[in-house]
Amino acid sequence: MAKLTTQQINDIRSSVDIVDIVSKYIPLTQKGKNFFGVCPFHDDHSPSMSVSQEKQIYTCFSCGATGNVFKFIMDYDNISFPEAIKKIADLVGIPLNIDVNVNKKSIINKSLYDIYELSLKFYQNNLNTNDGIIAKEYLYQRSIDDELIKVFQIGLAIKKRDLLTRLLLKKSFNETDLIKSGLIIKSEYGLNDIYYNRIMFPLYDLNGSVVGYSGRIYNTNDTSKYINTKETEIFKKGELLYNYHRAKDECRTLGQVIIVEGFMDVIRTYSIGVKNVVATMGTAVTKNQALLIKRMAKEVILLFDGDEAGAKATMSCATELEKIGIVPKVVRLDENLDPDEYILKYGEERFLTKLKNPTNIMDFKLSYLKTKKNLNNSADIAKYVNEVLEHLNNIEDDVLREITLTKLSKDSNLEIDFLRNKLEMPIKDIKLKEKNKDERKILSKYQKAEVYLINYMMKNTEVIKRCMKKLSNLPSKEYRDLQRLIVTYYNEFGYINEADFMTYLMDKDESYMETVKQIKKMNLKENFTLEEIDDYIKVILDYNIESEYQRLSDLMNKTDDIMKKAEIGQRIVELKILKGE
Ligand code: CTP
Ligand code: MN
Repeated sequence: MAKLTTQQINDIRSSVDIVDIVSKYIPLTQKGKNFFGVCPFHDDHSPSMSVSQEKQIYTCFSCGATGNVFKFIMDYDNISFPEAIKKIADLVGIPLNIDVNVNKKSIINKSLYDIYELSLKFYQNNLNTNDGIIAKEYLYQRSIDDELIKVFQIGLAIKKRDLLTRLLLKKSFNETDLIKSGLIIKSEYGLNDIYYNRIMFPLYDLNGSVVGYSGRIYNTNDTSKYINTKETEIFKKGELLYNYHRAKDECRTLGQVIIVEGFMDVIRTYSIGVKNVVATMGTAVTKNQALLIKRMAKEVILLFDGDEAGAKATMSCATELEKIGIVPKVVRLDENLDPDEYILKYGEERFLTKLKNPTNIMDFKLSYLKTKKNLNNSADIAKYVNEVLEHLNNIEDDVLREITLTKLSKDSNLEIDFLRNKLEMPIKDIKLKEKNKDERKILSKYQKAEVYLINYMMKNTEVIKRCMKKLSNLPSKEYRDLQRLIVTYYNEFGYINEADFMTYLMDKDESYMETVKQIKKMNLKENFTLEEIDDYIKVILDYNIESEYQRLSDLMNKTDDIMKKAEIGQRIVELKILKGE
């Protein structure tokens, strides 16, 4: 990649306004100087993120998420730094010759990604050979045509157990990486392919790189219909959603994301032009996945299989989403069908009508919780009421709460006021309480001084100069590291502001931005005086003297050497003078 200079990157950054860019992703409202929105990076319920036009950075005063326009896009779109630069440059029409496919991750596990890239070509090619005739017939018969095969990069592992192994070895991949990839296994007979005689559906990470497979049987009665790649360094099932990289932009444009269980369902809906669809791949939705869903769109439709397992999955997925403030909608399919089967059996139109008329989540939950209960039986009624109330506690939408309470009152013959009183206090209040609880992290006096100094050094050259003159090193490693980078930055560029300094950090270890985030989370005041800065510096100097004094005293106690003792004693006396004792 032609490496851009920090200067060039900052020119790109300053050619856009962070407020314009962020408001493309989340709605912002202006309050005073700043703009506010619901933070997309944590379970936010009320606008906690502020975007500053003046400083060109955003900061969430709840989770501490912070950064400039590049960082926002990187985290929101799950793209690398170079990709974010490219995206902004494209937006303002600056031509760039950089290869955006290079990201940190792919460098770290490069050989694993390379193995997958090669295996993908290999499997795809197999499908077009004589060995692939029956598999292709199977796909056609399931109405998966050549176009879909191409888009979803479907391939075939043929009936021999070492073809991929041999190919990879020939291309000089080493044995450890082959085994690490999850595609090759070592047994007493040597190295072998894990997949053979299966149709291969590639699974992608959030950037669209192939990181695993689901291999389906097609001409045998093998007991496992699908074999999935095991978890590897690049494949973590709970952190991705099938089709995320293809669907995310469509979801954002439409403001809606549809969740299905299987990738076959994604492929089928895609074939009729419904492209805002991702699949959970048959496992319970994790918090991580819920946050990904939240980032794609506000309106979430759960479209799981029509069977009982699908209903159960709908319940648990909804609960996970509610925890982060999403109230999903539900579409249920008849006759236990999954979306793929439904579309094939009843056609596009009937399916689309269903999709356009989702039920609200609480209506679905009421009917789900009613099943297998006899509402003429008091014990069952009590159980039903308690279960519904428990679910209602997770719903933030006041109107939906009231509507559901009315229905529950009818079902149970209990007064609506009685039911309402049974609810916990509104969710917002509980959350606020919890939040205040864990923010009482206590910093010692000198740690506080470090935090303040770093915070103001990032904004102001006068502070940097003072620190350079009076202070050597900050005591804590994380702040010392940042201090060093701030000074380097200042020496090289002769100025500082947070947005540009953040660009500079983005290329470096993630831990630096993490420290900045921790500082931002403390919501330090904006303004300061130089007297205050001098006070902080004094606190640090005192601390440094004190810890050196401690160190020498310890050393003194451990040493038997008379000469050494005298030498240390002399230094202790000097320190005592500095301390003013
Ligand atoms: N799944 C799996 N292993 C299985 C069964 C299912 O990993 N033995 C996962 C797959 O990711 C699949 C999803 O769960 O996409 C949904 O399973 P299922 O409904 O059984 O698959 P279908 O999408 O109906 O697949 P097909 O139509 O090919 O039977
Ligand atoms: Mn199916």
